[in-house]
This record gives sequence, C-alpha cells and structure tokens, in this order.
Amino acid sequence: MKKIIFAATLCAAAFLFGFSTALKEGQTCFSNKDCDSGRHCEICRAAGVQPRCTRTQAISPTSKVKGLAFNRYSWLTTHNAYARTGVKSGTGFVILAPTNQEDSITSQLHNGVRGLMLDTYDFNNNIWLCHGQCNDFTAFQLAINVLKEIKVFLEENPSEIVTIILEDHVTSPNGLTKVFDAAGLRQFWFPASRMPKDGGDWPTFDDMLQNNQRLVVFTSDPSKEALEGIAYQWSYMVENQYGNGGMIPGLCPNRAESAAMNTTSRSLVLVNYFQSRPNKTEACRDNSAPLLSMVNTCYEAAGYRWSNFVAVDFYKRSDGGGAPEAVDVINGHLVGGCGNIAFCKVSLYLYLSLYLSLL
Ligand SMILES: *[C@@H]1O[C@H](CO)[C@@H](O)[C@H](O)[C@H]1NC(C)=O
Ligand SMILES: *[C@@H]1O[C@H](CO)[C@@H](O)[C@H](O)[C@H]1NC(C)=O
Repeated sequence: MKKIIFAATLCAAAFLFGFSTALKEGQTCFSNKDCDSGRHCEICRAAGVQPRCTRTQAISPTSKVKGLAFNRYSWLTTHNAYARTGVKSGTGFVILAPTNQEDSITSQLHNGVRGLMLDTYDFNNNIWLCHGQCNDFTAFQLAINVLKEIKVFLEENPSEIVTIILEDHVTSPNGLTKVFDAAGLRQFWFPASRMPKDGGDWPTFDDMLQNNQRLVVFTSDPSKEALEGIAYQWSYMVENQYGNGGMIPGLCPNRAESAAMNTTSRSLVLVNYFQSRPNKTEACRDNSAPLLSMVNTCYEAAGYRWSNFVAVDFYKRSDGGGAPEAVDVINGHLVGGCGNIAFCKVSLYLYLSLYLSLL
C-alpha cells in the first residue's frame, strides 16, 4: 500500500512538473533514464535510502586546471577492475571467484575511472587476469584484452592519463613487457626514470600529455624496474591497509608492503576502501559517508596529504555522490583550495600564478 501511495505521489509530481526535466542527484527516481547523465537510479538498502539518482561518473579535475603536477590530482580507481560480475571466464568456464565491479574496463574509463588495479599471472602459456591463483574458474580474461581496451581509450582521448597498478605474479621472463608491447601500449609509456625518487613533484599533467607519456604503470615485483623498466610501486607510493583492516573508523594504517602513510619520500598516496569479501549490497553504504570520512582520516595520517587514488569496489554504487564525489572533494582541495571541484571557481589568480610559474 505504501508503495502505491508513493508511486501515485511521484506520478502526480511528474505530471505537475513535466517529465522533461531529468532528476538530479539525490532525487527519487523509478529508472535510470529518469536521472541526469552521469547518474543512475539506485536503491541503497544498506544506507536505508529509497531509489534515488546517484553518481556514476567522476569529474575530470583537468577540465578545470591542467597545469599542475601529476601528484596534485586525485583519480577514481577500481579495485580488481577486471573482476566483473556476471561474465564467463575466458577459459569458457563459469567464474567462481568473487567479483568487484559491474562494467567493462572501457565503460569504467568512460565514467572517469583513471586508476585500474589488475592482478597479473602466468597461466596457460600466457598472461591472465585472475582473482586468486589462476584456474579455469578464477581466470577472468587474457591480460591483452584489457590492455587493448586501455590502448583504444588512450588513442581516442589524447588529453587523458591512465594509471595501472599491478598485483604482479608474473614470473615468465619479460612476460609483462611482451603483453604491453603486443597491446600497443609502449607508445604511451611514462618511463620510471621520470618518476620522482625523493618525494618531489611529478612532471605536470600537460608535460605528460605533450610527451604522449600517458600510461603510468606500477608493479608489486621489485625486480622488474631494473629488468623491464616497470616502476616498483612501493618506491613511489604509500597505501593504507586494504580490506576490513582498512575500514576501522579513525584509523589509516599503511599496508604491509607500503612505507608508513606519512613517508613524504613517496609522492603518491592511495586510499583503499573496500571489504575483504566484496559485498555488492553493502558497497553503496561503504562508498558514501564512510568513504569520505576515511579519506579525511588518511589525509591526516599521510602527513596532511590528500590521496591521489581512491580505490573502491562497485564504484558506481552509493547513496548519492559516492566515490566520484569523494574524488571531487579531494580535487577541490588539491586544485582550487575549495571544498569540492564541482563548485570551485578557478580563479584568474590561480591561472596567472600557473602561467608565471611556467615562464
Ligand atoms: C609518522 O607516523 C607514525 C605513525 O605511523 C608516527 O609515529 C610518526 O611520528 C609520524 N612521523 C611524522 C614525521 O609525523
Ligand atoms: C553482504 O552483505 C549482506 C547484507 O549485510 C549480507 O546479508 C551478505 O551475507 C553479505 N555477503 C557476503 C558475500 O559477505
């Protein structure tokens, strides 16, 4: 009964105000097409909210200010970006491993995701993306398929930079080099030799675009920087604990592989915020107020440094602004010194000072 009254009220409202205006964030909706672009209609039971229009797209901070160092921006990042719900394994079997996202890499990139976490393994004489040790039921797809999607995106979007963070289990000699080359990604490679070693600023976003060095890749394998020129993540980045250990309110401990969060000799900061067992129904709550709160906690823990990457599961799920909004808030601080980049008025003064600093 309640539902009928609710629906009737909504219909009356729609009749009064007309169907033509798309609904904004937080407004009650029936289906995805009711909502503004960049939003979908979602019920977040875990946060106790009715169907409402929620954000699915991030705002590109470089659409506001382009001239800053790469480490002065924050990017929406997908944990296990390849582990998509409802797909079959590339081996032809049903996937039995947990999944963390709901759309393709191409769709993620079009929604403003710019950091992709991928787990790479040797399997069946090739490089695969698996969730846990590879077998027919955990192997999502060949790495080259996903890398080719990234290549297409970089070709079609000459003003974008993508970062890949590898949990790298590949031991075959030059295994990664071969697959990145085969995917046609070498032409976009940002060389590890250009990454700051001492906590200094990165080259500017513009510089990276002009040099067409638009793919930043990190590996968890310390041997590969010398052997294959793939940057060792922990020389350049700090990260908080992933999984449930990283979701305790008020705490932001570093993960075991990372230096302490406040180690300023690492210029990049990444915040993980997702459960140890990916949970689609709870992700909408996790990605909302609790995520924003952890972003602030980690800002302090990292020695008053905002995170450059915000890594979540089910990135489109939230009770309103979600992970895209968390990234907007960070970018507001990083770029404009204001609370949210969506509302930043980029001042003439900022442009002028950028211009003068480039002379
Ligand atoms: C860095 O954080 C640790 C806790 O992880 C703390 O003990 C230490 O005092 C901090 N160092 C600085 C320079 O703030
Ligand atoms: C996810 O959360 C829901 C709701 O709290 C719970 O019922 C379910 O068991 C959880 N699923 C997993 C895989 O942990």
